[in-house]
Order: sequence, then C-alpha cells, then structure tokens
Amino acid sequence: MSFASSGGRLGRRQFLGGAAAGLVAGTASGAAAQGQGPLQGALQVPAWTREQGEGVASPPYGVPSPFEKAVGRRPRTKPAFPTAASTGTPLQDLHGIITPSGLHYERHHAGVPAIDPEQHRLVIHGLVDRPLVLTMNDIARFPSVSRLWFLECSGNTPQWTGGSAKWTVQETHGLISCSEWTGVRLSTLLDEVGLRPQGRWILAEGADGAAMSRSIPLDVALDDALIAYAQNGEHLRPEQGYPLRLVLPGIEGNMSIKWLRRLKVGDQPFQTREETSKYTDLMPDGTARQFTFVMEAKSVITSPSGGHQLRDKGFYEIRGLAWSGRGRITAVDVSTDGGATWRRAELQAPVLSRCLTRFRLPWTWEGGPALLQSRAVDETGYVQPVRQQLVDVRGVNSQYHFNGIQTWKVEPTGEVSNAA
Ligand code: CO
Repeated sequence: MSFASSGGRLGRRQFLGGAAAGLVAGTASGAAAQGQGPLQGALQVPAWTREQGEGVASPPYGVPSPFEKAVGRRPRTKPAFPTAASTGTPLQDLHGIITPSGLHYERHHAGVPAIDPEQHRLVIHGLVDRPLVLTMNDIARFPSVSRLWFLECSGNTPQWTGGSAKWTVQETHGLISCSEWTGVRLSTLLDEVGLRPQGRWILAEGADGAAMSRSIPLDVALDDALIAYAQNGEHLRPEQGYPLRLVLPGIEGNMSIKWLRRLKVGDQPFQTREETSKYTDLMPDGTARQFTFVMEAKSVITSPSGGHQLRDKGFYEIRGLAWSGRGRITAVDVSTDGGATWRRAELQAPVLSRCLTRFRLPWTWEGGPALLQSRAVDETGYVQPVRQQLVDVRGVNSQYHFNGIQTWKVEPTGEVSNAA
C-alpha cells in the first residue's frame, strides 16, 4: 500500500510539490464545494474516533490490518507440482531490512512436514568420537547466539536470458529474505561430539518427504553456521523448518537444510541429488560447476520497481536492498540513466555482514523516460556486474547464481517495468 497521497508536514523542502501545497491552500475538491477546504475536512473527527475499537487479544496472535491483505507471498509461475514449489517475498511492500516471518520466501521440495517437537531428534554421527541423539530440549540448553542474516535461493532472479517485462521485484528478486536467527552454533555441537581429524564434509539431512540433503564443507560449517530454532524472536515457522534448521550465512539457501534431523561427518562430499543433478551451474563448454556455495554481491531497487505507476513529476525516494554472501556492503551506486552516470546512495545503519542493507537516494523525476539501476560493492571490493559480464564467463545455461544489475524502465507515462 502506498501512503504517497497522505498530506505530511512539509519541511523547508517541498517533497510533495504542488499537490500537497494545493491541499494546504485549500484547492477545489468535494469538501471545498460544500464551503469547506480539504484542511477543514481532514480535521473533522472520523467515524472510528467516535466509537470504541476492538478489544485486546482479538486475535491472541496479531495479524496485519485487513487493509494490507494484498501483501503476500506468491509463486512466480504456477507450480507443476504443488508441494515442490516456491513463493517470493513481496519486497515492493516491505521496509527496513527484516522480513516478517510470515512473508519469508519459501522453496519446498516435498511440502511442509508437520513435526511434533517432542518427537523430533537431531542425530550427529559419522566421523565423530561421541555420536549424539539430541532432543529439542537438549538443543535449547546449549549456549545460544542470534544473528541477522539474509537467505537467498540460488535460483533467485532467473534472468540469464532476460525476463518478462511484466515481472515485479517480487518475481525477479523475491527469493531473498532476512531474519534474526537464534540457535546453537554448529561448531559448539561439533565440539560436543568430537570431530575426528579425517572429518572434512558434513551431510545435513531434512525430515521432509524429500529428505533434502546437502554436503557442507567443514570451513562453511565452522564459519558461524547456526542450528536455529528461532526466527525473529519466536520459534521457526513450519515453512521455515520448524522445529530446527541449519542456517549457513551467505550461502545458497538450499543448503540451509530445514526440518534438520541428521548431521553425518564424512571425509568427502556425499554427492546427493541436490548437488549433482540440481544446484549445479551448466557452463558453455557443457561441464557443470559443482559446489558453488557463496551468494555474490547483489542489489535491487524495490521502489520504484516493476508494476509501479509514478503519478506525478517531482520528488521520489529511490529505495532498495543490497547484500553480499562475502561480508558487508560498502557502497551502492544508483543510476537513473541506464548506467551512464551514477550517484552514491545512503546506506541505512546497521550495515551488517551477510545481512540485507537498505539504501536510499533522492530523485526528481522530470517526467521523461528513465532506466533505474543499482550496483552494490562489498567489503572484498567486488562490484556487482552487468549481465553481459556474467554471460561472458558463464554463458546463459547457468540457471542459478544470477547477480547481475537489475534495470527498471520508467516510461514518460510513469509506468515502470522490468527491462532485464
Ligand atoms: Co550454487
């Protein structure tokens, strides 16, 4: 929902231009025709101020305003099989960096299992000195940590060969979300079981109907990885792995195994379906890159973005998100002319490693065509590439790990569409 039409207090700079100035001055409207300016009309006490509101605890677990019912997760395409599907986060409707838990993107391979936490167990075995079977109560007793991290599906932004002009940012970039995760560090549990020196890889297996399984190299497992039971202050949502999931910061989302039931330490990768047939990157010479884990620096403008309609010329705040699987974002540059010139955006604190970073830039739309782009730089010095730079190296068959610069096209009519 846009609040752009609400009259705000104007500072020295008139952000809302003529429309708001006219509002305060009392230009013609229905109210004015009845001998009242809009100011007098807006000062009248509305119906909901004349009566008592809803009582407390209705419902006990609060839900968004009914006026926000258009905000929700949606699939980009109709899934071929309903339990093997994905839905995107509505980035165009969100503010700040935290994704509400109920709007976190989904990617399931056999639906969402209904797991009783009393019966759930985590087994840690393989090349360890003391194999363990842990209950949820056992896991809750270990020292806990909380981390703000993004999760991004490596299939996010399927634009290797371009995308549909009709796609919104939910459809181009919605397979990213950001949460505060709380749980036990994986390294804490590995200390508890006693990792043997030959241990190099860890198989993580989910309790869903797909038994989703991935091989995690030891350096990733020891790099702050979490066995999480909470998200944004409450227990995980069922669709996010309740009651237990792996969370690997900066790593393709598929490896952060949900409904985690087993960790097996081995001396080599386990070559599961999800790292041989799927989640590999097909190169132009016919070979496939395997074990491409890190999500490289990327950014996207969320407002204005595909499907938006600019109504009036004048001030707009360009807003967007940037992130890097390799650390902090250090800069985001924004272009309104398709990359001919760039301006540095303001980064909203906190700017955290492997977390979403919110950026903003003031812009005056003169009413002509514009091509809006953002370009992220991370603390390693890596600069988000244009699509051609990616294609030159990887061809167009990769399917996964597209992090090219996104272009939104603004028409003189104010219509905004995907120009990737
Ligand atoms: Co990959």
